[in-house]
Amino acid sequence: MCGIVGYVGSGQALEVLLHGLTRLEYRGYDSAGLAVARPGSITIAKAEGKLSRLKGIVDPTALSGHLGIGHTRWATHGVPSDRNAHPHSDTSGDFVVVHNGIVENFRTLRDQLELRGVTFRSDTDTEVLAHLVAEAFDGDLTEAVRYAIGQAQGAYALVAMTAHRPDRIVAARMTSPLVVGLGENETFLASDIPAILKYTQRFQLVEDGEIVTVTEAGAAFETFSGNPIEKKPFTVDWETDSVFKGGFDHFMEKEIHEQPEVIARTMGTRIRAGADGGERVALEGLRWLDQSPDGVNRIRITACGTAYHAGLVGRILFEQLAGIPGEVAYAHELRYGNPLFEEGLLTLAISQSGETADTLAAGRLSREHGSRLLALTNVVGSSLAREADDVIYTWAGPEISVASTKAYIAMLVGETLLALEMGRRSGRLSPAEEGELVAELRGLPSKATRILESPDEIVRLAEELAKWPNVYFIGRGLDHATAMEGALKLKEISYIHAEAMPSGELKHGTLALISPGVPVVAVATNPQVHSKVLLGLQEVKARRGQVIAVAFEDDQEIGSVSDHVIRIPRTAHLLSPILAAIPLQLLAYHTARRLGRDIDQPRNLAKSVTVE
Ligand code: G6P
Repeated sequence: MCGIVGYVGSGQALEVLLHGLTRLEYRGYDSAGLAVARPGSITIAKAEGKLSRLKGIVDPTALSGHLGIGHTRWATHGVPSDRNAHPHSDTSGDFVVVHNGIVENFRTLRDQLELRGVTFRSDTDTEVLAHLVAEAFDGDLTEAVRYAIGQAQGAYALVAMTAHRPDRIVAARMTSPLVVGLGENETFLASDIPAILKYTQRFQLVEDGEIVTVTEAGAAFETFSGNPIEKKPFTVDWETDSVFKGGFDHFMEKEIHEQPEVIARTMGTRIRAGADGGERVALEGLRWLDQSPDGVNRIRITACGTAYHAGLVGRILFEQLAGIPGEVAYAHELRYGNPLFEEGLLTLAISQSGETADTLAAGRLSREHGSRLLALTNVVGSSLAREADDVIYTWAGPEISVASTKAYIAMLVGETLLALEMGRRSGRLSPAEEGELVAELRGLPSKATRILESPDEIVRLAEELAKWPNVYFIGRGLDHATAMEGALKLKEISYIHAEAMPSGELKHGTLALISPGVPVVAVATNPQVHSKVLLGLQEVKARRGQVIAVAFEDDQEIGSVSDHVIRIPRTAHLLSPILAAIPLQLLAYHTARRLGRDIDQPRNLAKSVTVE
């Protein structure tokens, strides 16, 4: 949700800013802009639309200089347009800011500034910050930023520079992520690490409530109230390769194909040989499990989007494997829903990015009410990881495509490991039962590879789906969660309306929409209710709907009630969501491709939603 990059050093700022914005474009692509400072003047270039438009208009001569900031926008206040694109400046043009987040009291601040004679040139909340910084500046940019954030309420990362001090950038963080990268005679700022990983592997995180003054010599941290903070840099050894497409046409396609490896990596060293020779899960570092394994009476899972669908699967796993009842709540509903808290409630917050504002807020609320907060996240050092009592990392690697695929699969594996660990500790699962499921888990990477190796049928079906304005997804139990995720994938990237529901619900209303040919995608891996699913599909066929089933390869019956069957290798039912999601991801991908959609950056969406 908006990406920020900054540079000060001996090199040319423009190259770093454009590279960083390219990496950050997944965070928003309504507009992009940058500003480069030289003693006495700042030059701004910005354009509505994707970064390619900005790249088309930048003039390297006009924008030469060693200090600069850049921004890629996901619009919150003010439509996507050139005038609302960041950076924003004060009236003189000598003070320039970029901002990620929302200034909640911007209307009041704007009215006050207008009364003092300021004329606004955009509809954004951000512009008030540029004017406030300019108003307060008396030679010290850090103090001016402190004044501005003292006036502003909300969640933000703010980055400012001025032509009067062209040796520094000053940034402040309240909620929205920001990281400093340390180089030789150069220092970087960005919303995330991959944006500047090409230049350095040494980083310092900016925490909530901190101001950082960045010069080519490094970064000086202090609290909002001015107390200096000592901060040790940390090193990351991620592969920069993971942020390239590696021969695939889209990041989404690449990330789908990484899933066999991701399943194996998420399991990683978390599976060990047990005393009886069988394998067992060894999830470490979960202090509450060590201290009071019996202390959890209920699990409340909270998340948004794809992570919420992972939560739907998790609830069933925790109930079935660990005997712990659970509930799943959208984080944006939970935070304002006056939820009840009780002794022994564990809150599990799931978030790929670890930065989703609603998920963070729901997690915080839960902790404030005494619930232990466990994070399941992909991003090491993310806000959620730092705020939670315990963390399980999914180790999916950087996910660039806005539509989540490998991060989802890794969440499912992480939840399975946790449910197995809790099931063993509670005595609900025998070593033999655990061993059996672990052996099945071990087999998933090669089964996932088999699904990926035969996409022809899916490509053909995608051509069919691309003709329809509405597609329905059904399934029962775990299959319903998979259906929800399949429908979301199709909506996100193909822009076809897709709706998922439990199979049994179809006849209570939606069946009215089934006319000849209308596609109904049925996920049918649940053995307990297989005959019921077949009955439901008969009802669709009776209305001459077009049934596309996802079923195990040895399912003998499904063909009689389906027009097309996508077959997946058989696995234990509790693990089936991990495999069944893959053909639905491919179906969405190929449908969107057929329709010529912008697959990695679908319209109106952003990878990480760091505002309410
Ligand atoms: C955005 C993304 C979704 C994602 C959701 C939650 O809406 O477009 O793909 O599932 O945020 O993100 P998180 O990082 O919390 O998993």
